[in-house]
Parts: sequence; C-alpha cells; structure tokens
Amino acid sequence: MNNYFIAALISYFLGNISTSYILGKTIAKIDIRNHGSGNAGTTNVLRTLGKKAALITFLGDALKGSLAVYIGLKIGGRDIALISALFVVLGHNWPVVLKFRGGKGVATTIGTIMLINPLQAIISVLAGIIIICITKYVSLGSMLGICTLPFLMFFVGKNEFILSIILTILILFTHRENIKRLIKGKEKKIGQKVQIK
Ligand code: G3P
Repeated sequence: MNNYFIAALISYFLGNISTSYILGKTIAKIDIRNHGSGNAGTTNVLRTLGKKAALITFLGDALKGSLAVYIGLKIGGRDIALISALFVVLGHNWPVVLKFRGGKGVATTIGTIMLINPLQAIISVLAGIIIICITKYVSLGSMLGICTLPFLMFFVGKNEFILSIILTILILFTHRENIKRLIKGKEKKIGQKVQIK
C-alpha cells in the first residue's frame, strides 16, 4: 500500500477518537453533541462539563493531531506528515465512528501545526488568544487565529502553505453556525455555562 494512503488512513481513524465524546460518556453519561452548542470540542466541554474536562479535551484532541503528524513523519517524511495533518483533522471533524458528527478541528489543527512549524503555530495561537481575551468569543478567536496561519506559512514552503489554506477553510466551514450566531449577537461568550438536563 502507498505510504500516503497508509498515513491518511491511520490519521483519519486517530482523528475519530473524540476526547470530548469519551469524557462526556464517562464522567457525565451524556453525549456532548446533544448539549450546549452541540460541538464535540473544548469550548462546549468547558460550558457543559467544566474547566478540568475542557483542559483534558484540548490536550487530548491536540495530542492526537501531533501524534498523527509524528506517525506521518516516521512513515515517510514531511510531505506525508502534511497529509497526516489534514486527515487527522478530517477524522476529528467527520468521524465515521460517530456518524460523521465530530468537532470543529481547532485543537487538533493546533496539535498538527505545533509539530510541523511550532513558531507559526505559537504565533497563530497567540493571535487567537488575544482575540478571545478582547471579545470573549472563542469561535471568533479560533477563526481569526487560523486566518493568520496562511500568511505565516507562505514563507515556509508551498505544501505547508497549501495545507494551511485547506485547514483555514475547514475551520471557517465548521464554524459557519458560529458565524451566523456572531452576526445575530447570539453567540455564547467564554465562561457562559449550560446546564445538563
Ligand atoms: O473550538 C471550537 C470553538 O471555536 C467554538 O466552539 O462550542 O462555541 O461552537 P462552540
């Protein structure tokens, strides 16, 4: 089997391991996707299950992104690792094992870029954090943070640049409902909790 295909397959199924879904089921016996924003990700875990669970979710989802890139590097080098980065995010966002209802790919994307280009990843994350601190909207910080990445990756290499464009489009796409809520002024700010019914 072709190395690119193997890396894509491993990464996709690694992406299917949803930290928030597992945490929701184990600590609160809920499907996180039926609560809050319905997203299987850090921000929704924060508003639904609290800070500790959110931290674990972020680390778990980011680490699987890094692990996929690491496996890609071991299988065949940097270009294969870039494919791994894309497929672990696809696996996280649209997991076959969860009927294609996953997360929005922010933490997993951060995990992949941290291993591919740490400096660029840190700058993008800092940009996102600044936006979140100013506006209190995690979704806005996530979107504007990722939008800095293609500008940063432009100076790194063609394939890195292409990957960063695709990852940016994916994050904007997965946040389409957040964009609508932001425009209507209905987006929840960080720290706003929801009760588990
Ligand atoms: O990590 C995803 C975040 O940017 C938005 O999440 O739950 O508010 O849709 P959520």
